Amino acid sequence: MTLRCLVLASGRGSNFEALLRASAGADAPYALTGLVTDRPATGAQALAEAAGVPQRCLPFKAFPSRASFDQALAETLVTAAPDLVLCAGFMRVLGPAFFTHCPLPLVNIHPALLPAHRGLHTHRRVLEAGDPFHGATVHWLTPALDSGPTIAQARLPVLPGEGEAALAARVLRLEHALYPQALAHLAAHRLAPPTPLELFWDEEALTPWA
Ligand code: GRF
Repeated sequence: MTLRCLVLASGRGSNFEALLRASAGADAPYALTGLVTDRPATGAQALAEAAGVPQRCLPFKAFPSRASFDQALAETLVTAAPDLVLCAGFMRVLGPAFFTHCPLPLVNIHPALLPAHRGLHTHRRVLEAGDPFHGATVHWLTPALDSGPTIAQARLPVLPGEGEAALAARVLRLEHALYPQALAHLAAHRLAPPTPLELFWDEEALTPWA
């Protein structure tokens, strides 16, 4: 099963880049059919242009209300009709109007071991809490923030004396390896895996581009 995936992104686009690279593999279980951004001139858009992936920008600030943005985004996705919508660094919380108008399955990647540390600044909060482990979670996107069922999770040990920037960089590399594997897990189980995929940080096993 090859999943036709449309990506939502807001910025730098390193997760989008990791997904693009993995999708070029000979037996990749998914293809990226489009990119939608909520602001102009993002790194993700430049990557999509270079790779020939069709893209559309719906600038949030150009809409009169959050509900009107949500509805326009939902209509754009429904028209594109991918098998899956992938949030990859998409920094917009979607409201009820979006979920009312978009019946498509959505997936998100979050830089923490959910259900711990929903929301922003996860690396700082992990360090402040003294957590021994940190990581990333790929989960179904639902109206409740960072609360949908887990599809795949990868963890790494927090190193003694490690600072926020170093920890963030290691977790980002983990995200780049995790997202394509989570999609392979979904494709292998026709979008209904019986259990989440559990991965542990392994320097040797990281994909070459991570
Ligand atoms: C990633 O850590 C993602 O999990 C979070 O925001 C960051 C986006 O990075 N939601 P990038 O744009 O994919 O480089």
